[in-house]
Amino acid sequence: MARTAVVAYSGGLDTSCILAWLKEDWYGFDEVVAVLVDVGQEFDLEESITRAKAAAADDVLLVDRKDAFAEEQCARAILTNALYEGKYPLVSALSRPVIAEAVAGIAQDLGAEAVVHGCTGKGNDQLRFELAFKAHYPGVKVIAPLRDRIWTRDEEIEYALAKGIPVVQTAASPYSIDENLFGRAIEAGVLEDPWNAPPDEPYALTADPAQAPPPIEVVVGFERGLPVSIDGEELALAELIVRMNHLAGAYGIGRIDMIENRAVGIKSREVYEAPGAIALITAHQALEDVVLTKDEARLKAGLAQRWTELVYEGRWFSPAREAIDAFVDSTQRLVTGEVRLALRPSVAVVTGRRSPHMLYAADLASYGTGETFPHDAAEGFIRISSLETELHAARERAETRA
Ligand code: ARG
Repeated sequence: MARTAVVAYSGGLDTSCILAWLKEDWYGFDEVVAVLVDVGQEFDLEESITRAKAAAADDVLLVDRKDAFAEEQCARAILTNALYEGKYPLVSALSRPVIAEAVAGIAQDLGAEAVVHGCTGKGNDQLRFELAFKAHYPGVKVIAPLRDRIWTRDEEIEYALAKGIPVVQTAASPYSIDENLFGRAIEAGVLEDPWNAPPDEPYALTADPAQAPPPIEVVVGFERGLPVSIDGEELALAELIVRMNHLAGAYGIGRIDMIENRAVGIKSREVYEAPGAIALITAHQALEDVVLTKDEARLKAGLAQRWTELVYEGRWFSPAREAIDAFVDSTQRLVTGEVRLALRPSVAVVTGRRSPHMLYAADLASYGTGETFPHDAAEGFIRISSLETELHAARERAETRA
């Protein structure tokens, strides 16, 4: 029987070389299928196909998952306010389950022997791909050629040229870049020294905030926790994220420069740009502030951190993630309303929020006249609240005297 391998193909140098390696003696596959999943990244389809064919792929399949990615992974990240280590909106971590699911599905249909990804042994993406492969194709063999053998960039370029695989300009870029609808992740090159300021060149979604146009204000409409409109114009989520990337990107909003703890224990210097994600999560949180009860908000913040860590470490397909989603969904039932966002250099500032379901009650919170707060009840509330504090203080005093 012909031995088939199905590859999560990006169109870049690494995965193009992988297509060819799989037919070399050391892997010896008969059939190699490249699967390119569109999650909203920039890519040249013709070029990617040409390169895959030159690398001797038997078939190149394009799978469009933009809307599915927006409506499933990006939507859940916004509902959860998912920011890994308080900063990173999980851009790459969100796309891997979608890509892997598509690749595993095709592999299973073809009865392929193996699924293949282009991740190295040092990163998080290998976890995300492999856990998702196994969740969708239990028992499948996973091959990671860049873990099996360490190739330098120059060796890869030399190999590609020898095989007649066109090496594109991006191969010359010192950065490792991953991108999708929700943002871009930029690593390596001069960024490896955490003292070096990120240069302007690798950014594509955001402009230098120092060159930002005059501030503007936009109104984001939400329904059950999800953004549905910008300035009254209703948009499908994928489109809305792209629109917000443009609007907020012009102000350099969502540029994130951080030292991040990878699952494998490495600290790495990461630069992200996720203007839409950051603006939308900021607005979503502001609407939750006026709708959720205190305890919902507190529980949700704790669970959001766990959710973010699970997804970061490759557990998108897990009962724990789904259980947290169920909690989050129950909190979002009334998160409908509007948020005013001022777009200014580097920041999206919330300047107003309103909802038909606000728990915020002006007559309770007001310092003006016409308020309804029961002042006399406050005295009793504090007397009882302070009982334990007084007992503890008295005990401390007694002990220091003794
Ligand atoms: N460190 C980020 C993450 O783990 C980004 C990884 C994306 N890969 C890249 N080649 N930049 O999600």
